[in-house]
Amino acid sequence: MQKRIRARITGTGSYLPERVLSNEDLAKLVDTSDEWIWSRTGMKERRIAREDEFTSDMGHLAALKAMESAGVKAEEIDLILVATLTPDYMFPSTACLIQAKLKAVNAAALDIQAACTGYIYALSQAQAFIESGRYNQILIVASEKLSAIVDYKDRTTCVLFGDGASACVVSSKGPGLLIQDVCLGADGDLAELLILPAGGSRNPSSSETVAKGMHYLQMGGKETYKHAVRRMEMAAKQSLERVGLDESAISWIVPHQANVRIIEAIAKRFGVAMERVYLTIHKYGNTSASSLGIALDELVKLGQLKDKENLLLVAFGSGLTWGASILTKISGEP
Ligand SMILES: CC(C)(COP(=O)(O)OP(=O)(O)OC[C@H]1O[C@@H](n2cnc3c(N)ncnc32)[C@H](O)[C@@H]1OP(=O)(O)O)[C@@H](O)C(=O)NCCC(=O)NCCS
Repeated sequence: MQKRIRARITGTGSYLPERVLSNEDLAKLVDTSDEWIWSRTGMKERRIAREDEFTSDMGHLAALKAMESAGVKAEEIDLILVATLTPDYMFPSTACLIQAKLKAVNAAALDIQAACTGYIYALSQAQAFIESGRYNQILIVASEKLSAIVDYKDRTTCVLFGDGASACVVSSKGPGLLIQDVCLGADGDLAELLILPAGGSRNPSSSETVAKGMHYLQMGGKETYKHAVRRMEMAAKQSLERVGLDESAISWIVPHQANVRIIEAIAKRFGVAMERVYLTIHKYGNTSASSLGIALDELVKLGQLKDKENLLLVAFGSGLTWGASILTKISGEP
């Protein structure tokens, strides 16, 4: 009998723009303070892309690093999946722009719109394509230029978001992080909780939409918070159950970085000490789809992951969408 193909992450990468926007800088733009932002969110700084630096540029740089660490050449990539809610254009896809920059001439390319859960949604697709035998090397890129859709006059949202990109290569062979399970969910009834109202077919851009600020993201923060904790806990539990693992088997949590209080609540519910939860929120804020991948890349590059350790990835975002994944570090074939 033929052995089942198992998808695994064989390389990771990330890219953060140079410019730092601190809480103190924000306090000069809106009525806020370092104390308020730090105590409510756990954020100190975030990165902001240059005016001439776009989602595809950041994604391209993160992709190069992931491909280098996986030892994969551009022409070997079969598919490029790009998770973003800030694409360069409505169309063509940012995945096609990155495909051109990489000269990944043998790759198909598509964008995934699952907001902050995009990285986990992309992992799920990559796992399915690899395990069906359709593809051998898939590049996932998550990249966001949120500064392009944030209103720097609105203190309830502008303090939360930053720019950045992450990437990984999902392969059919090799050492890395075995994808044990990916669990996804959505609730479109709550679509308006976190939304960019204009620029699509419902409210095409016009001088009126711009005058009303409808080209900026809008969020019901308190309501979003409640759903985030509940949904992430649910997804993580489902994923553990499907793999047949107990909560005590989690060595690391790599969460979406939206609010440190949300992350602490999740860690507490799974009995995981905060030293085992990888945080980047203090330095990069919420970079939507890319945040989990940036954290994963940093954790991998620290070189502290041991063979057979289990990682719980968990995220939540607009849509609403949510997801969790269990990865296991492997040095050989599972
Ligand atoms: C956004 C968030 C940090 C706000 O924290 P909160 O404790 O819920 O704060 P509230 O929205 O209740 O606001 C409390 C007060 O602080 C004020 N406030 C809001 N932003 C502020 C800021 N940056 N600085 C100072 N005061 C601020 C509000 O105006 C409000 O004032 P009021 O009581 O006079 O009306 C929190 O709700 C959150 O993290 N939500 C989840 C967001 C999320 O995860 N989004 C992404 C999903 S991917």
